[in-house]
Formats: sequence, C-alpha cells, structure tokens
Amino acid sequence: MSYLKEVKRVTTTSLQTMKGAGEKIAMLTCYDYTMAGLLDAAGVDVLLVGDSASNVMAGYETTLPITLDHMIYHAQCVSRGAKRAMVLVDMPFGSYQSDSSIALASAVRIMKETGAHAVKLEGGEEVVESILKITKAGIPVMGHLGLTPQSIHQFGSYGIQGKGEEAANKLIKEAVMLQEAGCFGLVLEKIPAVLAAQVTHALQIPTIGIGAGVDCDGQVLVMQDMLGMNDGFAPKFLRKYASLGEEITRATTAYVQDVKQAQFPSPEESY
Ligand code: KIV
Repeated sequence: MSYLKEVKRVTTTSLQTMKGAGEKIAMLTCYDYTMAGLLDAAGVDVLLVGDSASNVMAGYETTLPITLDHMIYHAQCVSRGAKRAMVLVDMPFGSYQSDSSIALASAVRIMKETGAHAVKLEGGEEVVESILKITKAGIPVMGHLGLTPQSIHQFGSYGIQGKGEEAANKLIKEAVMLQEAGCFGLVLEKIPAVLAAQVTHALQIPTIGIGAGVDCDGQVLVMQDMLGMNDGFAPKFLRKYASLGEEITRATTAYVQDVKQAQFPSPEESY
C-alpha cells in the first residue's frame, strides 16, 4: 500500500465528529510548502492559508491588499506539503463581497488551481447568499465572525467585538444564519469567552476561536505569532510556544560571523 493511502485526510466530517466527541481541533495558519510539511507531521488538523499572509508574508499593514492570485500561490505551496491536514483557504478581500456569482467564481478558482479542500470567508448576513451559492457547488465553506480583519477600516481598531447585549445577540443570530447557509465551521475572532461558549453550544458545527476563550471547539493562531517570530505582536490571547525570532537571529549572526572570518566552509565542508 502506498504511503499516501495510509494517511487519513482530515475532512469536514472528521471535524464534525471531533466536535461530537469533544476532541479539540488544532488549526494554524500556513503559507508555504516547508512549514506545511512540518506542521502537518506535528498533527495540526487544519492548515489555514490565511489572508494574514498579507501581513506576515508580504509585509502589508492590513489584509486588504493581498490578491486572489497571491492566495492561490500560497495555497498551492501548502497543498503540496500537507498530507493529513485539511487545507483551508481564505477568500481575500474583493474576491467575494460584490456578488455571489463572483464569490462562486473565486471559490472555484481556489479549488481548481490549488488542491485545497475548503474556503473561508468573513462576514454575517451580507455573505449568506454567497455561502449558499458556493456550498451548492459542492465547495465546503467556513465562516468567520467577530473581529473580521477585512473590515478593519469600518471597525477603526482591532478591538474586541460582540461586547454588549445587542452586539452579542447579533453575533449569535448571524452564527446560526451561517450554519443554516451550509457552513461546516465558524471562526470566532476576538470576542468575549462567554459569548464564544454560547455560540459554540448553540451550533451543531464546530467553532474555532482566536482570542475567544477555551470553550470553542478548536483554536487557531497565526503560525509566526505562535512560534515567536513576530516580537512586536503580543496581544493577550497569544501564547508563544517558541522564540524562533531570537533563534533565527542567533543562528544568522553566527553564520555571518563565520563567513566574514573565513570559518565557513571548513575543509570537511568543501569538495
Ligand atoms: O487570516 C488569518 O490568519 C485568519 C485567522 C486569524 C483566523 O483568518
């Protein structure tokens, strides 16, 4: 039997089963082949090709500039490296907001050109028609509520969303709408933990939190933040599991020094 046949791919059904069994879902963002292989081997269930690539890969201040072509490139790289994890791709700003036919065309491009397994888009009531159309075409969709970074200029800040009764009720209503429109899961970003728990219990589909407390069915972080490669970014919700930024600087400084002092390569490292 080939290796590939032995690897059981995480699917929308697996995620649903995990929610049912109370097994938490581990999701991380990923944008390239090498990291996809490493994260996949470490047991990450879902690799999100996030439009946060706009920030951490391209250096933009917001997620708005990244294009559908850029997202497709990153998703192709991740798909080639992921053997077990579901590859989920963010639909970038401008690729779905104008109308549902454009949304479907963008989702179809992602699925056709990348080998990914599902798409994610931001928003509530205003994206329901697009979700209906995309899911009718057989493409799994994950929703995203709370702090939706593509709307940063409307929010004015990256502050907590869903605070107060009115905002909380609106979020719960929209979460149910997204489930009814056919979403297989829902990201909840930067909302009070109590509200995230309420949404999680109200829905049959899994919720994945970022800054939304421990009661979500799973968690997601931006990989560079989780690995400590982004020292300037330290929100309360972030736990850093490594200090790779420091380690990369240490290793690179040593390399530069060795090259400058003709200490690298050694005779053993030469032909
Ligand atoms: O693009 C991204 O990284 C995301 C996560 C923060 C959920 O959407």
